[in-house]
Amino acid sequence: MTDLRNMDELEALDRANFLHASSDVKGHAQGTTPTRVIESGEGVYITDRAGKRSLDAFAGLYCVNIGYGRTEVANAIAAQAHKLAFYHSYVGHGTEVSIRLAAKVVELAPDHMSRVYFGLSGSDANETNIKLVWYMNNVLGRPEKKKIISRERGYHGSGLMTGSLTGLPLFHKAFDLPLERVLHTVCPHYWKYAEPGMSELEFSKHCAEKLEEMIIAEGPDTVAAFIGEPFLGTGGLVPPPEGYWAEIQTVLSKYDVMLIADEVVTGFGRLGTWFGSDYYGMKPDIITVAKGLTSAYAPLSGSILSERVCEILDQGSDDIGPLGHGWTYSAHPIGAAAGLANLNLIESENMLANVKSTGSYFQTKLRDAFTDHPMVGEVRGDGMLAAIEFVADKDSKTFFDPSLKIGAKMAGAALEHGVIARAMPHGDIMGFAPPLCISEAEVDEIITVVGKALDQVHSAL
Ligand SMILES: Cc1ncc(COP(=O)(O)O)c(C=O)c1O
Repeated sequence: MTDLRNMDELEALDRANFLHASSDVKGHAQGTTPTRVIESGEGVYITDRAGKRSLDAFAGLYCVNIGYGRTEVANAIAAQAHKLAFYHSYVGHGTEVSIRLAAKVVELAPDHMSRVYFGLSGSDANETNIKLVWYMNNVLGRPEKKKIISRERGYHGSGLMTGSLTGLPLFHKAFDLPLERVLHTVCPHYWKYAEPGMSELEFSKHCAEKLEEMIIAEGPDTVAAFIGEPFLGTGGLVPPPEGYWAEIQTVLSKYDVMLIADEVVTGFGRLGTWFGSDYYGMKPDIITVAKGLTSAYAPLSGSILSERVCEILDQGSDDIGPLGHGWTYSAHPIGAAAGLANLNLIESENMLANVKSTGSYFQTKLRDAFTDHPMVGEVRGDGMLAAIEFVADKDSKTFFDPSLKIGAKMAGAALEHGVIARAMPHGDIMGFAPPLCISEAEVDEIITVVGKALDQVHSAL
């Protein structure tokens, strides 16, 4: 055990008092796992307390979409804090910024979306969504239609319900999750799970058949909604195979199962369109947003609701009365001010166009540089989302023994050389999701550093 007395004051305070998210609790308290205190950021770079500067190729937790240090957003937050730091949104109350942000979000969202409910995090937005789905089926007089289908390796948050929807064992282990009413269907990772000789389209049809089998086995009258990330994120950064969303939506329509598009990562430009639903031709009933809504300059999330959903909620007002759901901080004016300033920057600086051009440069460079490496099984991605998955043997697609922690070693080696990439929590996968404003020169820096990291980890094997 490290002697906390040898640490400087801040580290000692941190280790003694602060229980961090998704961390080794004991290792942190006892000083055996590393800490890193980040002090400042500008553009795609952050600087820590020791003065080390790193290119953040994961934009925090794929959320700082406009990059760090934008004074326009800081000023908007400060102005709102001076004018009115808080007022709630219960019983018809609001603030100018929250109203203007709602209008802006609905304007940017796919045409059939109609109103937005604001929360604080992606997790609470998905909790809201599931409650609304259950509520709606009560309004519609079908109280048995309540099960939610998610996907293995999907990620939807860490709450009770959303942690259950998340299809990663790490988030269930010892938490008594998943809860009832949650089912997981197959993960649409073509490279990993398709049978030899299957085309992408055939694999998509196979995924849709599996979904249909599950709905029939459970009873269509018991299945309320399907939730999925347009591009699977935390579970390994996997773009959908060709035709996937069309096939899935055909099954959902057949059994009157609602679609929740969890766009916490893909919302607001990460794929070069405002929403992943636009990119992949999805027509969801509800869209979850968070991260990119404010670029994480302040916490804010949203549940964007379709016209059909709003009609049912209107009917609920008649039948049941006011909606009994809300958080104190719903539509918080500081978050709303940050959201407006953030969306304004994405638009005025044409960051979606940068995702299209620099994003495709990034995807090409990654593939050119690493596809043939003996340790690389797959390089994949779209827009500003990409991943490299490592294999022990390329031809037989044999994966590394998880205890070797190759993904974590790769992320560690890249960090040594000045680039932050994320070791994804499931499999040996190195993930990239840089700020949308990244330049080609900065992409080149990522490629150079990942190359060095790969050589380093490969030669140490
Ligand atoms: C797709 C998706 N949904 C929901 C969440 C949960 O968001 P939060 O961490 O803000 O609760 C995340 C977080 O990474 C996410 O990627």
